[in-house]
Amino acid sequence: MTPRRNNCCVVHFSTVINWSVIVLTGIISLFCWGTLGAIPCARRDFSHGSVVCVCNASYCDTVDPLTSLTAGHYVVYQSSKAGARFAKTTGQFTKGKLEVNSASSVVLTINRSKTYQTMNGFGGAFTDAAGINILNVSVKTRTNLMNSYFSPEGLEYSIGRIPMASCDFSTHPYSYDDTPMDFSLSNFSLTKEDTKFKIPLIQQAQAMNHRKMKFFGSPWSAPSWMKTNKNMKGRGSLMGQPGGKYFKTWAQYFVRFIQEYQKQNITMWGITAQNEPSDGEIIDFPFQAMGWTADLQRDFIKTDLGPALQAAGFGSVKLMILDDNRIWLPLWAKTVLSDQVAAKYVSGIGVHWYLDTEWLVPASLLTDTHNLFPDKFILATEACAGSMPWQTKVILGSWDRAESYSRDIIEDISNWASGWTDWNLALNMQGGPNWVKNFVDSPIIVNAERDEFYKQPMFYVMGHFSKFVPPDSVRIDLTSSDSKSLLAVAFTAPDKSTVLVTNNRQNQNVAVVVKDSAVGTLTVTLPPHSIQTFVWRT
Ligand SMILES: *[C@@H]1O[C@H](CO)[C@@H](O)[C@H](O)[C@H]1NC(C)=O
Ligand SMILES: *[C@@H]1O[C@H](CO)[C@@H](O)[C@H](O)[C@H]1NC(C)=O
Ligand SMILES: *[C@@H]1O[C@H](CO)[C@@H](O)[C@H](O)[C@H]1NC(C)=O
Ligand SMILES: *[C@@H]1O[C@H](CO)[C@@H](O)[C@H](O)[C@H]1NC(C)=O
Ligand SMILES: *[C@@H]1O[C@H](CO)[C@@H](O)[C@H](O)[C@H]1NC(C)=O
Repeated sequence: MTPRRNNCCVVHFSTVINWSVIVLTGIISLFCWGTLGAIPCARRDFSHGSVVCVCNASYCDTVDPLTSLTAGHYVVYQSSKAGARFAKTTGQFTKGKLEVNSASSVVLTINRSKTYQTMNGFGGAFTDAAGINILNVSVKTRTNLMNSYFSPEGLEYSIGRIPMASCDFSTHPYSYDDTPMDFSLSNFSLTKEDTKFKIPLIQQAQAMNHRKMKFFGSPWSAPSWMKTNKNMKGRGSLMGQPGGKYFKTWAQYFVRFIQEYQKQNITMWGITAQNEPSDGEIIDFPFQAMGWTADLQRDFIKTDLGPALQAAGFGSVKLMILDDNRIWLPLWAKTVLSDQVAAKYVSGIGVHWYLDTEWLVPASLLTDTHNLFPDKFILATEACAGSMPWQTKVILGSWDRAESYSRDIIEDISNWASGWTDWNLALNMQGGPNWVKNFVDSPIIVNAERDEFYKQPMFYVMGHFSKFVPPDSVRIDLTSSDSKSLLAVAFTAPDKSTVLVTNNRQNQNVAVVVKDSAVGTLTVTLPPHSIQTFVWRT
């Protein structure tokens, strides 16, 4: 993939008629090729801590690609509160034993022989709201937005979550079959939201991506006629019992969803059994929800959903349980997966971030769950900033929110999560649309009136992982002399390069020494509130 270059480098050879001009333009383009691999961020400061990068129809920043690495040398990309965005520099490891002043430095020691989980990837969700916003700008601006997330010039997202029918980030509630008592699902059909706001963008994302994307569907609610409360929102659950006609029909609804998307050449890699099953169980939830206990989810999977997927030829689609906050772990997993029959249909456990706190709901709950069921993957399936009622919805340029992403990603991965899925790919200036006004923030905010969009600090934090930690990377052992002062996590990528992500969340510099017995020692100083991705070969 040839990187796009700065305007200074654009040379129209067809207009060149004179040999001396050809030689001159050759020299200029060589010079530009060597010095300007990427289009830089067009910074704008909304006075919320850091900057956003502004993109429009004619301009959008790109990531300077990784070029060939020589053993013993490293490339590092850095983004910071002070305004760096994927700033790329290179350096060298020092061979041999080095005296390290460990009193003033954080020492990170890599042991690539000790391996942990294989990564599924990173990505975001194709909600109706995301589609509405992405389609509300000119074609050129939209292409820049899609490139920013999916192309080799951008973050190369490899995961896409797809709500099955409506959720709160829709303009109204709807299902794929609102015909009452249609147990044969003869009136099942995708909606105009699928054909207008989701499918074309998903196809475009896959087409511009060099990585094979993993898509997974999640339902918020069954059609109202299948539910105890006859409503897609509120407190209510599926009518009847596992094995009964409502449960059988609901299982078939998943099959039909996968088939209909398959007809559009969108292959479902996975599905979750229910988005946030606890929502509709406990309270009168204000938007689409459907309540499940862990026991009921186990029996639905065992009796209805697992067999239906298998019978339809979708036995290899990764079925994930929970898809809810980690406060329910490890109990939820124990309840479902201790049943041998239910467990054989399940591939993974989805977790949301909304109650994550070290003192109340620590990341170690994920490790506890992994230790009980080591052959089931854990995947973070939803997260967003600004979701609490007291929080400001959209904060343009917030570095705090970027750091809340990086902290959660590093903690999750350090506790066996195989990837991390952001919520809406793009929202408007208000943090919507959302039919119940449950507005939140997003890594990309679209300002349709000005035909431009803003890449937030959260966008760059996502990229520090998604771009440089490709699917099938394997986490490797990293020991730190001070894991409070610096967050860090390391991987071996499929091409055997080593990837290290570090995040200094402090107000001062942190001196770091990275030790890798295969290449030596790397010494750097990380500026306040910054994130780095180091890549090297041995
Ligand atoms: C697009 O962004 C570039 C870079 O910030 C700017 O120079 C240009 O004026 C913008 N175009 C429009 C139409 O706003
Ligand atoms: C690295 O990990 C391997 C595998 O767990 C272990 O055998 C070895 O002792 C470790 N090396 C160091 C230097 O700790
Ligand atoms: C259901 O589908 C049938 C044809 O299969 C059609 O005649 C009917 O109008 C549909 N009902 C609704 C409510 O869409
Ligand atoms: C799906 O892919 C096939 C083969 O590449 C192609 O012929 C067909 O038109 C595609 N269908 C859609 C709906 O994109
Ligand atoms: C779409 O853009 C127009 C301005 O071009 C704006 O008025 C409208 O609110 C936008 N729609 C949404 C859902 O944000």
